[in-house]
Amino acid sequence: MSLAARIAVLCLGVAAVAVFVAGLVSSRLVLSASRDVSRQVLADQADVVNGQLGRNIRDVLERQGIAVVTISATGDFTGTDQQAIRAAREAGAVRVTQGAAVHSGSGGYLVEARPNGKGGFALVQEPEVSGNGRKLVRNILFALGVGLLVAALAGLALGTVLSRPLRRVASVAHAMSDGRRDLRVEVSGPAELAEVASSVNGLAEALQRSESRQRDFLLSVSHELRTPLTAVTGFAESLADGVVTGADVVPVGRVILDESRRLDRLVTDLLDLARLGADDFRLDLATVDLVPLVRAASDVWHARCHARGVTFSLELPSSPVLARTDARRLRQVIDGLLENALRVTPSGRPVVLSLTSVLQVRDGGPGLAAEDYAVAFDRGVLHQRYQSSRPVGTGVGLALVHGLVTRMGGTITAGPAPEGGAAFTVTLPTAT
Ligand SMILES: Nc1ncnc2c1ncn2[C@@H]1O[C@H](COP(=O)(O)OP(=O)(O)O)[C@@H](O)[C@H]1O
Ligand SMILES: [Mg+2]
Repeated sequence: MSLAARIAVLCLGVAAVAVFVAGLVSSRLVLSASRDVSRQVLADQADVVNGQLGRNIRDVLERQGIAVVTISATGDFTGTDQQAIRAAREAGAVRVTQGAAVHSGSGGYLVEARPNGKGGFALVQEPEVSGNGRKLVRNILFALGVGLLVAALAGLALGTVLSRPLRRVASVAHAMSDGRRDLRVEVSGPAELAEVASSVNGLAEALQRSESRQRDFLLSVSHELRTPLTAVTGFAESLADGVVTGADVVPVGRVILDESRRLDRLVTDLLDLARLGADDFRLDLATVDLVPLVRAASDVWHARCHARGVTFSLELPSSPVLARTDARRLRQVIDGLLENALRVTPSGRPVVLSLTSVLQVRDGGPGLAAEDYAVAFDRGVLHQRYQSSRPVGTGVGLALVHGLVTRMGGTITAGPAPEGGAAFTVTLPTAT
């Protein structure tokens, strides 16, 4: 059922209950009030009539629907209306022969009996016969019916008004699922509806952003794959065509090998990144002393930095630092961070690998802007930002590093380094 129909039905339901209760209470009140009034009138008439009950008065009363029953001193009831006689008898009107007045409203009839010199008389009336109460009730029911109709119309109008903006939101969402990203919902109306509209707009923007990031990433990865592939293809062709022979074969073979390894690394990184999101990603967690692990990494990176004229320094604590981690993956993290640091650090400037209670990679390169820290680990974002101004890789590294550290239960943050460049700080869960 649509929202509009629901609201209309709900309004109608609430109004119907209100009308039912009000009708029930008011008709009871009206009926009992009208009965009280009839009774009072009848009593007054009995008092007036008392003692002068002639033919004329009897006619006037009977025209008003009031039956007159005469009661003799011996207790005989006479009158034209048998039912009235029975009602008067049941109401105990015979007591007038002892000189008592009788008021009775029980049963269907109102009975007012008065004594007079020769016994007495009773006035008997069926109150409903007067019809005043019924007319009142009919009018009230009519008013309530009008109220009910108005409530139904109001509910219908309310439902339509409230559901229209929701329909607009739904149509934009449908268009989005059909692939459109340029549509936005107008944010207006009641607060809740406005919130729905603005959250759908937010969703559309997030979708647009993430899709364009994905596109950029694919573009950069394809570009990154093409460069080594071109080299491999070109050199392999020259070997196959016999253009390169003799002593030239060895360096050409080395280039092909290097480029193939680059390709392999890239594909491995991509696969790792894709697997990080999957449930079957395996970690070999163990208690690891980070000191020898960091020292082993520093041996390799010391040589690489030295070859580029970059000053590498290692800061190690004197006691072991135990952490619960996957040693191979942690090495991957250190390598990823140092590779970035070395690539941007000019010769003569420092790169620092430091281990205290946390693991840090710092450099004296150009560093990152304050707004970069928050998005540093979003795949491809920094890569995209610095593509034109710095040497970059594929844009996978930091996302992979972040994914690995997070999977191992640790945290990684980016910030400024005292050396002037960027600092990446990894905190791992300590071994218990
Ligand atoms: N230590 C650093 N100093 C300055 N910029 C950095 C540093 N580390 C990473 N970046 C920037 O972040 C970008 C993304 O890094 P990363 O995700 O590892 O991808 P890639 O290294 O393949 O470009 C790099 O291209 C670089 O511009
Ligand atoms: Mg990198």
